[in-house]
Amino acid sequence: MKTINVNLEKRSYPIYVENGLIKEIPSILKDHNKDQKWIIISQHRLMEFFGFELMNQLKQAGYSVDYITVPTGETAKSILEFNRIISQMIEMKCDRSTTILALGGGVVGDAAGFVASSFMRGIDYYQIPTTLLAMVDSSIGGKTGINIAEGKNLVGAIYQPKGVFVDPTILESLPKEEVVSGLGEILKYGAIKDATFFSATSQHLENIDAFPFEDAIARSCEIKATIVSQDEREGGLRRLLNFGHTIGHALEAHFGYGQIRHGDAVSYGMISAGWISKELGLLKKDDYKTFKQSILRLPLPILNKFDPVSLLPFIKNDKKTISGQLHFVILNQIGSADTTEKVTDELLLNSMKIIQ
Ligand SMILES: NC(=O)c1ccc[n+]([C@@H]2O[C@H](COP(=O)([O-])OP(=O)(O)OC[C@H]3O[C@@H](n4cnc5c(N)ncnc54)[C@H](O)[C@@H]3O)[C@@H](O)[C@H]2O)c1
Ligand SMILES: [Zn+2]
Repeated sequence: MKTINVNLEKRSYPIYVENGLIKEIPSILKDHNKDQKWIIISQHRLMEFFGFELMNQLKQAGYSVDYITVPTGETAKSILEFNRIISQMIEMKCDRSTTILALGGGVVGDAAGFVASSFMRGIDYYQIPTTLLAMVDSSIGGKTGINIAEGKNLVGAIYQPKGVFVDPTILESLPKEEVVSGLGEILKYGAIKDATFFSATSQHLENIDAFPFEDAIARSCEIKATIVSQDEREGGLRRLLNFGHTIGHALEAHFGYGQIRHGDAVSYGMISAGWISKELGLLKKDDYKTFKQSILRLPLPILNKFDPVSLLPFIKNDKKTISGQLHFVILNQIGSADTTEKVTDELLLNSMKIIQ
C-alpha cells in the first residue's frame, strides 16, 4: 500500500492508495471507532456498487453505520440538499462524535465535506473517492463547498479530512468519458511538476485500458499533497494547480455545467495556456508542439463552435482573479509552472482560437 502524507501539523492526514483497499477500511479505521455513529454519504447507484458492501463489512466489524444518499449531478451541491442531509443526521441522532465517510466523486466529496465542516461546528470525515478526478484532485486538500444561484462553489470551507482511501479498482465501473476527464488532471500534475511523469502518462494514453492507474494516481496525489502542505489556503504555490483552469472554467461556464466535463475543459485550457506560454517566449516552440500533441492523445470530445469574446467575461469573473488582476498559470517548460500577470485580452482571445 502506498501512503502519502498531507503535512499540515495538527490537521495532517494520510492518503492510502491500493487496489482493493475498500475492503481494508474497517480494519484501518479500527482505532478510530469509539462507538460513535458513522454515516456514509453517497449516491444511490454508488451504494449499490460498493456502499452496501462497505456498510456490511463495517457492521460486521462492530461499527454503528447508517447512510444518506444525495442526487447525482451538481444538484447534490445545493443549499436544499445541504439542509436535507443535516436534517437527516439530526433525525439519526448524530452528534459531535459522528464521523462521515464521503463515498463518491467530487460532487459527493464537496457536499459531504461541507456538511462535515459545519455540522455541530465541525465533525470528522474521510474521503473515499470513486471517480478518477476525485481520486487525484477533489478528495485531497480540504476544499469543500456547495453552489448557489450566483455561481459554483461560492459557499464553502477549507476543512481537511482525517484520511483519504483511494481504491483504483473502483474505477472499473466508471464510464470511459469520466476516466478521460480525470486523465486530463493527471496530465496537469506532470505538466506543472514532473516532465518524466508527463511524458510517461501521455505515452500510456495510447492504450487507456492498460493505463497504470495505481501508480499514476499515487504520483498525482503526491504532487498535490506536497503543494497543499506548503500552501493550504492558496496564497501562492497552490495556484499552480489551476493550470489550464482559467480557460477551462470559462469553457464550462460558457457551455453550461454538465455540458462539458471538467477535466476535458481543463485539457483544452491547458493547450491554450501552453500556447500563451510559447507566445510569451517561455515555453520553447518544439516543447509546445510536444505538449499539445501529448494532450491531444486523450480522446477529447470535439468542442462546439464558440466566440472567444463571449468567454472573456467568465475569465474576468473567475474566482482566481484577485482584485481584478488575473494570475495566469504558465509553463516555463514542461514540468515547471509559474504565474504571470502579463496575459493580455488579445493573447487570451488568440489562445482560444487554436482550440476551436
Ligand atoms: N474540492 C476540490 O478541490 C475540487 C476539485 C475539482 C473538482 N471539484 C468538484 O468536483 C465535482 C466534479 O466531480 P466528478 O467529476 O467526480 O463528478 P461526479 O461526482 O458528479 O461524478 C460523475 C458521475 O459518475 C458517477 N460515478 C462516480 N463514481 C462512479 C463509479 N466508480 N462507477 C460508476 N459511476 C460513478 C457519479 O454518480 C456521477 O454521476 C464538481 O462539483 C467540482 O466543483 C472539487
Ligand atoms: Zn480541476
